[in-house]
Amino acid sequence: MTDDKDYLAIFSASYERALQFDDEKKKFLDRFYEIFFTKSPEIPQLFKDAHMGAQKTMLQDSLLYMKDFFLSRRPNEYMKRIATVHSRAGKDVRPELYDLWLDSLIEAVKEYDPQFDSDVELAWRISLSPGITYMKHMYRRT
Ligand code: HEM
Repeated sequence: MTDDKDYLAIFSASYERALQFDDEKKKFLDRFYEIFFTKSPEIPQLFKDAHMGAQKTMLQDSLLYMKDFFLSRRPNEYMKRIATVHSRAGKDVRPELYDLWLDSLIEAVKEYDPQFDSDVELAWRISLSPGITYMKHMYRRT
């Protein structure tokens, strides 16, 4: 059986839909942070000084840069900078927390993308994996 799905295209279309079907009262990215903050007591603690409005805009940008990294296989300046920010020398985001980050994002996508299915989930996991792997790897390096 051949599998010629374009997972990056499936990811992009799902992301567009999730943003488009934002609830009037609660936005997709708000819902992501709400879920993420319940995953471990460490998480709200890490964000205690953060401006969450700015954080959401940055998350939106970073999803695009992660997609670019998947396509180009070269870490752009943005990826390098945020890897440093999250590293042990910076915010000290332990590599294990990235799995909770991705699981939370997918839970939010499941609620907001009306076409969510197992291929959509796989597309998010595949598309964001290179960026996440890079950030985890740079935890000790920078
Ligand atoms: C690949 C996944 C992630 C991406 C793309 C991402 C993206 C970002 C970006 C773009 C910033 C702003 C950096 C700046 O301009 O200074 C940021 C800050 C931050 N991120 Fe992440 N992040 C990720 C995962 C995580 C995880 C797993 C945690 C764990 C709790 C985390 C905690 C933080 C914290 C604490 C800040 C600083 C907030 C502040 O005090 O202003 N991030 N992240």
